[in-house]
Amino acid sequence: MMAPAQISAASGGCRTLLNIVSGKLGALAECAGLGRSKLSLRKGGDNLVVLESFTKTLFVAALLLLASGGCSDKPVFTEPLALGGVTVPADVLEQGRRVYKKHCLNCHGGDGDGTGVSAYGQWPAPRDFRSAKFKFAGVAGAGLASDEELERIITLGLKGTYMRPWALKTNELQAVVQYIKTFSPEGGGYRSESLRVKAPAMYSDPYASAEQFSRAVAEGEELYHVVFQCAACHPAYVSRAQLEAWGAPVRAGDASEPVASWSNDYNAALLPPDFRRHQMRSVASSEGPRGILDHDVADIYRAITMGLQGAMPGFGHLGAERAWAVAHYVKSLADVKHLEPSKEPEFSRP
Ligand code: HEC
Ligand code: HEC
Repeated sequence: MMAPAQISAASGGCRTLLNIVSGKLGALAECAGLGRSKLSLRKGGDNLVVLESFTKTLFVAALLLLASGGCSDKPVFTEPLALGGVTVPADVLEQGRRVYKKHCLNCHGGDGDGTGVSAYGQWPAPRDFRSAKFKFAGVAGAGLASDEELERIITLGLKGTYMRPWALKTNELQAVVQYIKTFSPEGGGYRSESLRVKAPAMYSDPYASAEQFSRAVAEGEELYHVVFQCAACHPAYVSRAQLEAWGAPVRAGDASEPVASWSNDYNAALLPPDFRRHQMRSVASSEGPRGILDHDVADIYRAITMGLQGAMPGFGHLGAERAWAVAHYVKSLADVKHLEPSKEPEFSRP
């Protein structure tokens, strides 16, 4: 098995030359398959002056090298890899690597660590694939995201973030999903012997008719505040007096504001959305009548029952029917008007 470090080293030779003329050839450095070329020589004070006088020569040399195919994209994967209990052929990983280089590398980085050249200043930060943790893949607790979930997320994109919806061909999509797993460190994530792929458990919506729907919203409102206690992190949407009358916990401070927290896993402040104001990221929506949004209640249900790995606990243990009621209630809050993307909360790193 090839560790990510070895993968980087495999194309190192071409990079050295290209880095020297990196000022003009930054883009060409990507022919080595890695976006974040380490521009160490540029910082080297005196060296820089000397090097600059050679830049033209080297530029021509590099072009000749390229023209002669000297920096061709050599395959990195020559053997199949076992990833999440499935053996993935080398040609699929190679195809995934090409798709990644073209579309994903700028943000997610050559090492998959989420620090590509375009990642600077993004909130939330692009995912660091080395951790093999995914917020929106319906994985409760420890476990690995399934291919289907990763494909769904990539196709849908994450609203209100720089992760756009990707209309990839089916084989490209499947290949890039396999490739991002290869960033797991030796023995960890998708390359661990013990972690298993977990597909979300979904039950069908018991509230099908319009009449049942309004009952679900009414029940969901109380469940949200009392039994599920979502307002521990998300806003409360009823008055303090109502919370007290229900015997629901009332948190200190302004209960109508969400509570942000810092996450080491995601290297970012997490902001639980205020469903009336903030876009949800993994919940599909379409334009409904009179300009309102129609959110996919099943996507909300998945987030509630399975949780968001490392960001929000799952509430499946409180019962599927009750969780559907809460999902309808959240939908009723979010559907009402057009929502804005959430803004990075003021939060200093611990
Ligand atoms: C312009 C920047 C950008 C590009 C390009 C990009 N992403 Fe992302 N991606 C992000 C950001 C930002 C997040 C994190 C969003 C969040 O945490 O809410 C993300 C998150 C993800 C996630 C994690 C979802 C989860 O549930 O945690 C996956 C998987 C992913 N991207 C795959 C891809 C793939 C595959 C490509 C290329 C086809 C790609 N991304 C291209 C910015 C980008
Ligand atoms: C411990 C804090 C916490 C609790 C309790 C909590 N959440 Fe969350 N929730 C979060 C955070 C943090 C996010 C934002 C994650 C992100 O996008 O980075 C979130 C996001 C969501 C999302 C949006 C998912 C998306 O695709 O963007 C939904 C829906 C949601 N929560 C519903 C609920 C409901 C309903 C409850 C109660 C059953 C609940 N949450 C309880 C912390 C919490």
